[in-house]
Amino acid sequence: MKIVVTGGLGFIGSHTVVELQQEGFEVLIVDNLSNASEEVLNGIVAITGKRPSFEKLDLRDKTGVSAFFEKHTDIQGVIHFAAFKAVGESVAKPLDYYENNLNTLVYLLQELRQLPTAHLIFSSSCTVYGQADEMPITESAPVKPAESPYGNTKQIGEEIIGDTCKIDPKLQAIALRYFNPMGAHPTAHIGELPIGVPQNLVPFITQTGAGLRKELSVFGSDYPTVDGTCVRDYIHVVDVAKAHVVALKRLLQKKNPDNFEVYNLGTGTGSSVLEVIHSFERVSGQDLNYKMVDKRPGDVITAYADTTKANEVLGWRAQSTLDEAMRSAWAWEQKIRKKQMVVG
Ligand code: UD1
Repeated sequence: MKIVVTGGLGFIGSHTVVELQQEGFEVLIVDNLSNASEEVLNGIVAITGKRPSFEKLDLRDKTGVSAFFEKHTDIQGVIHFAAFKAVGESVAKPLDYYENNLNTLVYLLQELRQLPTAHLIFSSSCTVYGQADEMPITESAPVKPAESPYGNTKQIGEEIIGDTCKIDPKLQAIALRYFNPMGAHPTAHIGELPIGVPQNLVPFITQTGAGLRKELSVFGSDYPTVDGTCVRDYIHVVDVAKAHVVALKRLLQKKNPDNFEVYNLGTGTGSSVLEVIHSFERVSGQDLNYKMVDKRPGDVITAYADTTKANEVLGWRAQSTLDEAMRSAWAWEQKIRKKQMVVG
């Protein structure tokens, strides 16, 4: 079973490649290396003992995408991670985001429809819900106007897939709406590699703990939450990765009554920024330097998932606790620091 993983050298992509290989799938990674390194392949080999195939390809190259699918006629499914994902950057460079995140999806769908087995798993996000009116958030909560071009690309991406599924019953697709993926593989062979200053909370915390950043700024301390800081649903990246394999198998085994389905991927538990900081302090045994600052524009107050649909229909459930996910993130951070010290 040959599965194409676009963006397969990235954070969630690489963890999914590991899970696919461990389940016996043959993986072909497509990545343009814009935000990832070929070295990740060595991490995947260290965990699974198997080197996935890799082709450097930019999916904005329509001719290149066609040539790729002409060459690989035996593809059984595509898991599509390749996309830009920085919210702030998307506000500054909207066209780059629309071009990269939407054109590539259109080109993939055009090719996928030509295949005998047109199976697609799409990376979506809880950002499609905006500030939801009710917690926990179910899949039937309304999709709110996007706060950023990045968020908009996820909404439009789902619409593009939904519209195509309506006219093409052969196309089978699942969109997975991730809440806040974090952590690293427990072996610390692969993990998150943010370039420059991390925008997301957990890599910022671990880099601060490692002494790379002076202190963490906590954005907002008077939100109407348990301790005044924002609440999110942090989920171990390995749990997220496993859900992709379950979703893919559902399509391959033709268990899906509808040819386009949507699932939340979260733990069902909300944690505040301070609770995440305390988790870091527990697992690392050290205090974290942080200060309370103004709110970050565009942040929702609270977002955590109702996971009933994924639990009952997919038969998938997040296994790891926040502390377990944090321990893996910290082990990974320490490993990459050591490596950089050797290289430097
Ligand atoms: C954002 C995006 C989400 C995207 C995800 C992964 C929105 C609304 N959310 O999630 O779609 O999938 O990134 O890239 O577009 N925080 C601090 N200090 C920091 C960094 C973060 O206090 O230095 C706080 C934030 O205010 C927030 C929480 O930590 O309350 C999590 O932030 P972050 O990791 O950036 O994720 P989201 O904003 O939830």
